[in-house]
Amino acid sequence: MRVLFTGGSGKAGKHVVAYLAAQGHRVVNVDRVPLNHPGVHDFTADITDAGQMFSVMSGHAGYDELDHGPARPFDAVVHFAAIPRLMMCADTETYRVNVMGTYNVIEAAVKLGIRKIIIASSETTYGVCFSEGVVDPKVLPLDEDYDIDPMDSYGMSKKVNEVTARSFQRRSGFDIYALRIGNVIEPHEYATVFPPLKDDPGLRRRITFSYIDARDLGQIVDLCLAKDGLGFQVFNAVNDTNSVPQENADLLRRFFPDVPLSREIGPHESLLSNRKIREVLGFREQHDWRNHVK
Ligand SMILES: NC(=O)c1ccc[n+]([C@@H]2O[C@H](COP(=O)([O-])OP(=O)(O)OC[C@H]3O[C@@H](n4cnc5c(N)ncnc54)[C@H](O)[C@@H]3O)[C@@H](O)[C@H]2O)c1
Repeated sequence: MRVLFTGGSGKAGKHVVAYLAAQGHRVVNVDRVPLNHPGVHDFTADITDAGQMFSVMSGHAGYDELDHGPARPFDAVVHFAAIPRLMMCADTETYRVNVMGTYNVIEAAVKLGIRKIIIASSETTYGVCFSEGVVDPKVLPLDEDYDIDPMDSYGMSKKVNEVTARSFQRRSGFDIYALRIGNVIEPHEYATVFPPLKDDPGLRRRITFSYIDARDLGQIVDLCLAKDGLGFQVFNAVNDTNSVPQENADLLRRFFPDVPLSREIGPHESLLSNRKIREVLGFREQHDWRNHVK
């Protein structure tokens, strides 16, 4: 597919773009800074500028396409560009960039007739990660029909993005899938992030102990590109198990003693559930952290 990808130069995007390109997709990266990945054309553009989003989305995917005359529409848009967490910018700027940027990207895609749109939402929408104080989830495991209620500007912006996506899906009938991405782990991070968790799993309490390998996130996006006809969907995007070695019985007793369980949960099963991507999209994780940590 010809895929326009926003935010492909970032931590998650660079691995997902590489994964999609390796599957044979023609990928164009739209970011404030170039990625410089072989075969991937870079556009420097700002998602908060609606005109630029319409322009890049109605353009060519590379210089070679000039030979074939006017550009044809992209087959899909994958939207990752954002301020990716709290306290990087003023709260107002995080909210503005993420909310207006996502509106601009989805509006341009829908009005240009691009029928598959995938956006990066976040686990922070569940309202635990960046909340003030030590906050419990209402129920575990966290699954996609949870009543999300973040209290921070970043989580709020991602919740609003899901509302925007759902509204544009109703208007267009196109497929718009929002990925509630967990904490992204790049290959080089296994050596530093995971060893301390053996003695101090509480470091991962705010993200309910989950993680997503950046390459497995590539697989999830690719599966979303391949799956048509689902309308508006939200998918948790995490690996199969928690990122800590302790069993759930121990973690729940120590960190979430008052949280009810909605169902039985496996000893190491991710408390941010990925059951839906496994059952609906056919996700099969390739990068269990245990194979990458000595
Ligand atoms: N990293 C995580 O653990 C995590 C977890 C959940 C969700 N997410 C989401 O996944 C996506 C990617 O996150 P990441 O960790 O790769 O972040 P990142 O900051 O590394 O990458 C984001 C990219 O977006 C670009 N960008 C920012 N503002 C832009 C603008 N106005 N116009 C054009 N490009 C702009 C940046 O230059 C950067 O390359 C984000 O939407 C983020 O909210 C990330």
